[in-house]
Amino acid sequence: MTPPLRGDRPIVTVTRRLPDQVERLLVDEFDTRLNHDDHAFTAAELRAALGSSDAVLCTLTDRVTGDVLSVEPLRSRILANFGVGVNHIDLATARARGLVVTNTPGVLTECAADLTMALILMLLRRLGEGERELREGRWTGWRPTHLLGGRVSGQTLGIIGFGRIGQAVARRASRGFGMRVLAYSPSAPRPETLAECGAEPRGSVEEVLREAGIVSLHCPLTADTHYLIDATRLGLMRPDAVLINTARGGIVDEAALVAALRAGTIAGAGLDVYDGEPAVRPDLLSLENVVLLPHLGSATRETRLAMGMRALTNLQAFFGGAPPADRVA
Ligand code: DGY
Repeated sequence: MTPPLRGDRPIVTVTRRLPDQVERLLVDEFDTRLNHDDHAFTAAELRAALGSSDAVLCTLTDRVTGDVLSVEPLRSRILANFGVGVNHIDLATARARGLVVTNTPGVLTECAADLTMALILMLLRRLGEGERELREGRWTGWRPTHLLGGRVSGQTLGIIGFGRIGQAVARRASRGFGMRVLAYSPSAPRPETLAECGAEPRGSVEEVLREAGIVSLHCPLTADTHYLIDATRLGLMRPDAVLINTARGGIVDEAALVAALRAGTIAGAGLDVYDGEPAVRPDLLSLENVVLLPHLGSATRETRLAMGMRALTNLQAFFGGAPPADRVA
């Protein structure tokens, strides 16, 4: 079969650098425009891409707002997001403009759950503080009272948002660390799912916050979950409890979190995501009882490759005339 002429191939703009193998496959199959210096696209660049390409392969650093999507003429017919969260895309406007939107679910579940456990361990065992002390030459040697943290095994872990990642965290916590796991999800989890994950259901966010020693967030950021964890809800947490957020920064009111950490109404926080990232509030940076990571949940070679392959598969399906498997709008 004669391969289609270059000019016949759909134009795909890729907004960030992707694993080499994925970029090569995209270049083989489509008229692909790569972002060689890996800068974050501005609104003007996104509009230009939407106006000049048949598809945009975007990521969470692209703010695909209603204004961006109002570009005229709109050439793109699909936004293939590299990532599972789509809160950076105005889905209603995308739908209204006839754009298909896809994401990459499933392939990052295990790595995101691993990173959640890493944050729990770092925070409770004060590993960030310990590493800082050692690297800065302040370590004077072993002593019985040095950097005492809290025991991780046997804790009560409260999971808010019991989708794939919440469930994967529950399995690790219950099976690997002997934790009691409480789970809340707006759509009640199935009893067999709870049993398989070793989790007990709770009927509200508030119940989880009151009982858990570790609260971990695993819900998507939507209008309903924006600032879900605010001053009032932080006030329900146990004073010895910690908050872990590997989901989205906008789920937590960070000003209220800093106030709770300073006042000691909660014991600590482990964050991988921030409201307004990559900017991080200076007052968070100054606190010792927090562990702060730069949005690394899915950052493994295996997962980033799988995410790219999934986005590629969605594009192939769409341009091949089939429904993409991961359509969200
Ligand atoms: C996602 O896929 O939305 C993650 O946040 C990327 O790590």
